[in-house]
Amino acid sequence: MIYIGIDLGTSSVKTLAMDERGRVLHSASREFDVEYPQVGWAEQDPLVWYESTLECLDELLAQLDRTKVKGISFGGQMHGLVILDEYDKPIRNCILWNDGRTAEETNYLNEVIGKDRLAKYTGNIAFAGFTAPKLLWLKKQEPENFHAIKKLMLPKDYLAYMLTSIHSTDYSDASGMLLLDVEHKRYSKEMLQICDITEDIMPKLYESYEVVGVLKPDIENRLGIYNVIVAAGAGDNAAAAIGTGTVGNGQCNISLGTSGTIFITSDSFRMDKNNALHSFAHADGAYHLMGCILSAASCNSWWVEEILGETDFYEQEKDIKRLAHNSVYFLPYLMGERSPHNDPNARGCFIGLNATTTRKDMVQAIYEGVAFALKDSLEIAKNEGVTLTTTKICGGGAKSQVWQDIVANVLNLEVETLVNEEGPALGAAILAAVAAGEQPDLETASKRIAKVAKTIYPDPETVAKYEQKYAIYRQLYPALKDCFSQMSLSD
Ligand code: XUL
Repeated sequence: MIYIGIDLGTSSVKTLAMDERGRVLHSASREFDVEYPQVGWAEQDPLVWYESTLECLDELLAQLDRTKVKGISFGGQMHGLVILDEYDKPIRNCILWNDGRTAEETNYLNEVIGKDRLAKYTGNIAFAGFTAPKLLWLKKQEPENFHAIKKLMLPKDYLAYMLTSIHSTDYSDASGMLLLDVEHKRYSKEMLQICDITEDIMPKLYESYEVVGVLKPDIENRLGIYNVIVAAGAGDNAAAAIGTGTVGNGQCNISLGTSGTIFITSDSFRMDKNNALHSFAHADGAYHLMGCILSAASCNSWWVEEILGETDFYEQEKDIKRLAHNSVYFLPYLMGERSPHNDPNARGCFIGLNATTTRKDMVQAIYEGVAFALKDSLEIAKNEGVTLTTTKICGGGAKSQVWQDIVANVLNLEVETLVNEEGPALGAAILAAVAAGEQPDLETASKRIAKVAKTIYPDPETVAKYEQKYAIYRQLYPALKDCFSQMSLSD
């Protein structure tokens, strides 16, 4: 039997076919652009996602025995506001997870409604990329669009809707809306009221591994696959965690994609005392804590492609030999920052340049800056009593051996790489297989299918040097915070 995972990312959509034993048979992907209508804003057209997904599925299915395809599921970029009108047409472009236009609405939620109340209603406070502040922005700035909303959904749910006609979402992805009472897994009546919407426009909630329906007849005919179940799927980080075997209590996965995340599983619902980390549902039916930085591998693509005008990423890092000997620091806040600073005005910087600084030093500073930014979230988790010794790693940036080493030494964790690095797409295929009854349960399936390729051990001397560098790094944002907000006035 064959199960298909669809990972709707920010720079591309990937589809992957897995057999009943968890072997990856084929994959296909299509890239697309992000539109930046203003500094700090980020949008995409949902129809581009859908058309790109169909193209990928055509390519993928052409390599498979279509009669064996039994299930499809999704992982998707989180938090995006997708809104449909009465004719099921997207009312406007999706406002993405890394869009920082809602500073005012986020402040209103955190300061006027109050963080305590938000945490009581949802388990989280407001961050600029979350869905609820985007609704408040829409109501104020585009009232005609706000009043035309007949259905609201998250990015991957739009794909599910187009393939099945079923308006659904799952708890892991819905956690990032700030409209869900995460602990009790139901929409928060208070939050719906604050955002001036009613529950009838919201997608029906499912566990990630539950069947929401089957493909529409016209889609079956278009793709040439029949009697295929569709499972709810998960937010991309939860799907990646399934794809890397990060299930059960106290496990960790780090993703170096467009965003960077540190994802820590928990049997029970928990929050840190300032709600600096996200307290979300996991795709395995339990929960997780997560820190999310808005720019991770995207800092490196910006540097290599946009600034250096190069395409060979390996070439840029191949001379980096000595870790923790670099005097340059990089703050990775190219799209503002989410965890832990919650500051859409923050901006990227190189600091500590001197006349001998080389191009290689700048690349190393980017890798280290991203790792330090993730360490900011790890430190918060540690203060809450979380103890970790090991993490999985996935995402485009995780292909770099130098970056793997830097992450291991900056975070002082053993880092396990995976045989199959397809994180969210593989996780989505596993969700489909569990939903179809092919796998006994999610934990068994995820642990059986995600195979560790190698472990990178931190070196105590390098760890100690990075501790010293981190002590400097963590002073940089507070020192620059006011400058960032003054700069934003002239953006
Ligand atoms: C998580 C987050 C990002 C996006 C990226 O909270 O915003 O990781 O899901 O796709």
